[in-house]
Parts: sequence; structure tokens; C-alpha cells
Amino acid sequence: MPIGDGNRLRIEQLRLEDLSLLGEIDRSEHQQFRYSVAGDQLISRRFDFEVPGWDPVGHGDHSVTGIVSFAQPIVARGADFLGAFVADEPAGLVILDTKFEAGLSWLALLYVDRVHRRGGVASMLWSATLRRSRAAGAAAVYVSATPSDSAVGFYLSRGCHLATRSEINDGLYELEPDDIHLIYDLS
Ligand SMILES: CC(C)(COP(=O)(O)OP(=O)(O)OC[C@H]1O[C@@H](n2cnc3c(N)ncnc32)[C@H](O)[C@@H]1OP(=O)(O)O)[C@@H](O)C(=O)NCCC(=O)NCCS
Repeated sequence: MPIGDGNRLRIEQLRLEDLSLLGEIDRSEHQQFRYSVAGDQLISRRFDFEVPGWDPVGHGDHSVTGIVSFAQPIVARGADFLGAFVADEPAGLVILDTKFEAGLSWLALLYVDRVHRRGGVASMLWSATLRRSRAAGAAAVYVSATPSDSAVGFYLSRGCHLATRSEINDGLYELEPDDIHLIYDLS
């Protein structure tokens, strides 16, 4: 999809009642690498896994109901919910809690629809994330990233670094111990 051809891609502030848009994003992907952390090193190994789209009817973590239930309280307590649209079609969604902790913004969710990937959609949402985090007075953005090639590759390409032991957020680590915990310094 040619996003660079002008202004076809636009970002909109969304509301709690728009959370159902999550179900319209095709999250499926073919993962070829998986990351883990050993000491202070990021390690990748070959992996061959086809992540399916959202389960449209169940209630598990990978269902539409599950992802909306995860996002609902975060947006309800005031997190930013932004959508990137191509015409009227949602191409990517991000949820950002700029007041997660004193001086710390938390990127709670980022998905780009499969057909819109590698066109700069996430980069545009990331730029909005940084602008809003700075405006809120945050010194850093925290990301608990899926340990996949796309997610980790994306955040590293934006300049995130592996969280050190003292930077790791205990609550988020407990939630997702297999994620790659990353920091972007805003200073
Ligand atoms: C991760 C994700 C959000 C990236 O979205 P995107 O719109 O494709 O990203 P961009 O086009 O802005 O990519 C910017 C850069 O990120 C890096 N990147 C993106 N996808 C990558 C991949 N699959 N492998 C390695 N690096 C990747 C590249 O450096 C890319 O620049 P390039 O295309 O010029 O090489 C998207 O792949 C996605 O939604 N994946 C499934 C859900 C997910 O993992 N979300 C994050 C959960 S924490």
C-alpha cells in the first residue's frame, strides 16, 4: 500500500466506544524469529509460526472479546486511543497511557493490519506516541513487546533499548514475562 504518496493516511483520536475497531484489524502474521533475553543480551532464534487472526467468537486472550476487555479499562482511565486510517479503513491502532507512572508513558497496545504493514503505519503512530508522551511530561516510553521479529524489529528500529534490570516494570513483567521489555528515552 503506497502510504508515502501523500495524505492518504490520517491519524484520529478515538473513544472508548471505538474499541470494537480492534476486531477489524487483521493481527495475523508469519513469525520467523523469536526473541528472548539472556543477561543483558537480546537473543533471536529461528521460529516458524503462523499467528492466526483474532478468534471472533471465543473469550480467550486472542479473541476480539479478550483484546477489547484488555484495552477497555486502560482507555476508560484516560489513556490515548489513536487510529491510523486509509480512507475509512482502520490500518493501525495504538493505546498509550502517558500517565502510567510518574515520568513514564506506557505503550499498551499497537497493531497494524496485515495488508498495511511495512508501509510506515506503525512509524506514524509511534511518532504520535512520542509527541504525546513528551507533551505529558514523560521522560521515557515503556514497551512490553511481543517477542516476535516484527514487534522487536520495529521497536529497535525506532531507537528503543532493552530495559535494564532496574528499568523493568515489575507489574508489566509479571503480566508478560516472555515479552521483551524495552525503553525509549525521551530526554
Ligand atoms: C510490529 C508492527 C506494529 C509494525 O508495523 P508496520 O506498520 O509494519 O511498521 P513500519 O512499516 O512503520 O516499519 C518501520 C520499521 O520497523 C521495522 N520492522 C517492521 N516490521 C518488521 C519485521 N517484520 N521484521 C523486522 N523489522 C521490522 C523495519 O525497520 C521497518 O522499516 P523498513 O520497512 O523501512 O525496513 C506490525 O508488524 C504488527 O502489527 N505486528 C503484529 C502485532 C504486533 O506484534 N504488535 C506489537 C505488539 S507489542
